[in-house]
Amino acid sequence: MRVLILGGDGYLGWPTAMELAAAGHDVTVLDNYLRRNVAQETNSEALIASPNLVERARVFKEVAGPTIEVIIADCTHYQQMADAFVRCEPEAVVHYAEQPSGPYSMSSYRGAHLTLNNNLNATFNLIWAVLEHAPDCHIIKLGTMGEYGTPNIDIEEGWINIEHKGRSDRFLFPRQAGSLYHTTKIFDTDLLWFYVRTHGLRVTDLMQGPVYGLTTAESILDPRLAPNFHYDDIFGTVVNRFLVQAVAGMPLTVYGAGGQTRGYLNIKDTLQCVGLVLANPAARGELKILNQFTESLSVNEIAERVRRAGMELDLEVQIQALPNPRKELEEHYYNPTLSGLLDLGLKPHYMTNEVLGEMLEVVGAHRDQIRRDIVMPRVRWNTDG
Ligand SMILES: NC(=O)c1ccc[n+]([C@@H]2O[C@H](COP(=O)([O-])OP(=O)(O)OC[C@H]3O[C@@H](n4cnc5c(N)ncnc54)[C@H](O)[C@@H]3O)[C@@H](O)[C@H]2O)c1
Repeated sequence: MRVLILGGDGYLGWPTAMELAAAGHDVTVLDNYLRRNVAQETNSEALIASPNLVERARVFKEVAGPTIEVIIADCTHYQQMADAFVRCEPEAVVHYAEQPSGPYSMSSYRGAHLTLNNNLNATFNLIWAVLEHAPDCHIIKLGTMGEYGTPNIDIEEGWINIEHKGRSDRFLFPRQAGSLYHTTKIFDTDLLWFYVRTHGLRVTDLMQGPVYGLTTAESILDPRLAPNFHYDDIFGTVVNRFLVQAVAGMPLTVYGAGGQTRGYLNIKDTLQCVGLVLANPAARGELKILNQFTESLSVNEIAERVRRAGMELDLEVQIQALPNPRKELEEHYYNPTLSGLLDLGLKPHYMTNEVLGEMLEVVGAHRDQIRRDIVMPRVRWNTDG
């Protein structure tokens, strides 16, 4: 298939591009380097420097064979998006091109404004590029489990049936996010649902949990093909921050009580899920919503797993609670449904000692580049004390 990957320079976009190209698809990646620029602006660069997208595509062709077409363009500029659609004529588009940091979206007016404008305009322009240039194209949109928040009831897969005063109907599952970034993903879902209802788009919205992992089948071919690894408080997920703290001999800093529970998944499973969804497209006029994670873990459980994996590598790992810089429940009910992707054939990889150990070894090889000051929280959710 001809596949256009928006955000193809990102943590998930680049490995997806390689995986789909290796599987024989005709892949074009588009990116405007927003993440690299915001990382630089906020002093949050990745642990391991990666070549630019053109160079990555060149290295991939050299070591693996397939060509990945590169377009440097901004999804918030409609003409640039439309031109990419005319050039690529995609049968499917994978939309990763958003500002994905909760802390950045909560850091300042600039962070909030950029996140809101970038994410909403990118999704809106994508919708119109599909309507005008490729109406049959399947949109695979990366949403987040964070759209649901942490409700005190089971989380369904996108939709809920509600009975009210003797009548019933099916609605989007209630959404209440914990950061402005996550709120933009809710707006995205609403926009897509509107255009699915009114214009018959075909959309799969993947409610993905935090992803971890540094290796995929293609990334191991050459170190220059590795996924980005951020470990700071703005772009680094809790797993990455703990791994770096373990290697640097810093205590693993748990925000508050540490009972914050989310559904996590290995990057290999993100690639599997996108591949499965590509092969099983939504019908015209259908918004298919799938929860995308493999295991639910609390922050305390992750800290314990990293501590255990560190012990096997003779790292002495301490765990320390910090006052929570975020506004969130630190102990709560969490029971999300996971069935759609398993039904499609997802075979999960779990966060085992071995997986964490491999990541610790990669981080250990770059120990000298770790900047300890950027791991600790620099952004607070509110400033009222
Ligand atoms: N990584 C995770 O744990 C995770 C979890 C849930 C959902 N997601 C979602 O998956 C998607 C990808 O996440 P990621 O971790 O790869 O993020 P990332 O920041 O590494 O990648 C996003 C890419 O999109 C690009 N981009 C952003 N705005 C753009 C624009 N206007 N025009 C062109 N390119 C643009 C960025 O430069 C970046 O390379 C995001 O939408 C994110 O919300 C990620």
